[in-house]
Formats: sequence, C-alpha cells, structure tokens
Amino acid sequence: MAKYKIAVLPGDGVGIEVIEAAKIVLDEIALDAEYLHGDIGWEFWCTEGDPLPKRTIDLLKNTDCCLFGAITSKPKEESEKELVPELQGKGLAYYSPIVGLRQMFNLYANLRPARAYPGNPLNYRDDIDLVIFRENTEGLYSGVEFFPLPEEIKSALVKHHTKMAKFKDVPARDIALSSRLFTVEGCERIVKRAFEYARRKKRPTVTVVEKPNVLRETSGLMVRTARRIQKDYPEIELWEANIDAMCMWLVKNPQNYSVLVSSNMFGDIISDLSGQLVGGLGFAAGANIGDDYAVFEPVHGSAPKYFGQYKVNPTATLQAVRLMLEWLGEEEKADRLDRAIALNIKENKIKTYDVGGASTTLEVAKNIAKFYKQG
Ligand code: IPM
Ligand code: MN
Repeated sequence: MAKYKIAVLPGDGVGIEVIEAAKIVLDEIALDAEYLHGDIGWEFWCTEGDPLPKRTIDLLKNTDCCLFGAITSKPKEESEKELVPELQGKGLAYYSPIVGLRQMFNLYANLRPARAYPGNPLNYRDDIDLVIFRENTEGLYSGVEFFPLPEEIKSALVKHHTKMAKFKDVPARDIALSSRLFTVEGCERIVKRAFEYARRKKRPTVTVVEKPNVLRETSGLMVRTARRIQKDYPEIELWEANIDAMCMWLVKNPQNYSVLVSSNMFGDIISDLSGQLVGGLGFAAGANIGDDYAVFEPVHGSAPKYFGQYKVNPTATLQAVRLMLEWLGEEEKADRLDRAIALNIKENKIKTYDVGGASTTLEVAKNIAKFYKQG
C-alpha cells in the first residue's frame, strides 16, 4: 500500500490543464502515493445540482490530503439557467465548492506565500518574501447572510443595538445583511498558526492586519488575541496595521514585512495584492489547512476563455504541490521542487504568455520536471 492517499480534483476550465501539468512533475517526484480522482465543478452543478457531490466528500474523507485545480462559478440567475431541465425550478442554489470544502473540513488556515523568485521579470521588487495566514472559515465569508432580513432578527437588532435606530423604519424586506462573525477560538487558532510558522522559519515579525478602530468587536478581538498570543513568542515582534493602510504599505515597502495574519476577507484582499507583487496569478498558490486535513490549490480560477489552449502558467499549481509536500513532511522533495521552479524562472526560456513567452502549460511543467530530476 502506498504511504499517502491523495485526492486530485481538477475541477474545470484550465484547472484540468494545470493538474495535468502537476501530474508530469509528480511523476518525476515519485512520491509514494496513490492519487484518486474526484468530481467537482460546474459540470456537476449542471447535471446533478451539486458542484461538490457527496461521493467526492466521501473520497476526501478517505485520503490524507487533496490537490485541487480550479472551478467556474457564475452569478445566481445564470447558474440556475444552466441546470438540466429536470433540476430547474427546484430552488437549488449554487455555492462555491472551495468555500464549502474549507468549512466542511474545518480548514481554518489559508497559507499563502508570496515570494519573489530571482529573475522573474514580473517581480515588483526582488526582495519580497511574504507569507499570509488568512482565516478561512469565519468572518464575512461564513455564509451567514440574509435578504430579506427576517423580521425577528431586525427587531432583535433594534432592541439590542442603538446604531440600529437609523434603520428602524426601513422595512425588513429591504435590508440585506452579511455577518462578520468571529469566534475567540477562530482568532486564536489562526494567530497561533502564524506565530508557530514564524518561530519555525525564524521570521522576525508577525503583522496582524485588521481595522479595529472601526470594526471594534471583530477586528478588535483579532488584534487583542494577537497581543495575548505574542507573549508566548517573545522572540517575534507583533506589528499591527489597518487593512487600508496595509494595502498602501504593501505597495510602498513590501520588503519590510514577513508573516501577515488576517481574517477571511481582509486576508483574501492582501493575498491577491501580494500575489501580484511577485508575478500575479500564474505564481500564487494557497494551502487550506486544518488540524488533520489540507487542500492545496492555485489561487487562480478556471479562466474559461483560455480553456483548451494550454496557455496558463502551471507554476502556481506546482507551488501548491510544493506546499503539499511540505505539509506531508516531505521537506527534501519540497525544497528540491522549489529549486526546480526557481531554475525554470531564472533560465527565463520556457515560459508562458504571462511572463512574455509562448510555451505551453505542459512545456513549462516538463522543464521543471527536468530540473527536478537534475536535483
Ligand atoms: C480565493 C478565491 C475564493 C475566495 C473565491 C473563489 C470564493 O478568491 O481562494 O481567494 O475568495 O476565497
Ligand atoms: Mn481570493
């Protein structure tokens, strides 16, 4: 029996192509693993009314971790129209299966590195080395939303919060509400992850990115938690920044920062910003990590307009593979893959369109596999 069981969910669009590229490199890495294919994505929404069928969830439960490609999602009305006729009008609602997976498997930490590889012409600066810890199951993406707002909730809010006075006369049917729900445990575990990482990798600072001057209760809880937890990590400094100012600082002085920790939506925003500083979507990967399961993915979507052309940069997905190897404890293989990715970038010959080249997704993967083989 293989040492690891790994679920592979290509999804749709270019997700299929980048996973094909990952397989080329995984073949070269020769990890002692069994790879199990799972269904996820638009096709299954259209034909079964569920983009993340139960059989896929069962498959995941039976594996050590998962490598995920990308999926297409469309707005509400459009998604309903694309359902097979038998499923129309049944009140089925599309949801993002990746957000679903994060919640279902309690993958509370979204680790997103943004490091500038030497020689990448897309680097904003060459000395950027950020690691973002984004809370992944709560906050504004917890899915606790209402429209219309149920009458009981409106009256409870009016009763319990003076700031609701100004909405008192707005009919509940005209109010939409998305909740930004934080828990003490949720804040603690993401902050701890960030500090543990900083300790292990000997990083000097952790910056908590929130907005406690306005979001006093939620951001306030995150910042207070970070201050408390920092005391267990005296060798690491805690810096505090507001999300808006941080977007500015990350453009002005990204090299000054190291580990960043933030809630779900702010973490989403700073990870896109940071990703662009080191080459953009072709390079950005994320690891969705819980206590005993993890899903690794490129940050980019399914890019339907490029599907079938093998155009997109597989580096992001290979970064996801690197994160997976590291999480599995295969540090040596992870480092070797990192060197191979770095050599491909430095050589600057076999490259996709985003880096100014004309090589295909699979050609880049083959070149990285070649460098991996050379050690
Ligand atoms: C990401 C993506 C997702 C998110 C979307 C697809 C729901 O943007 O992984 O950052 O916002 O979490
Ligand atoms: Mn995002």
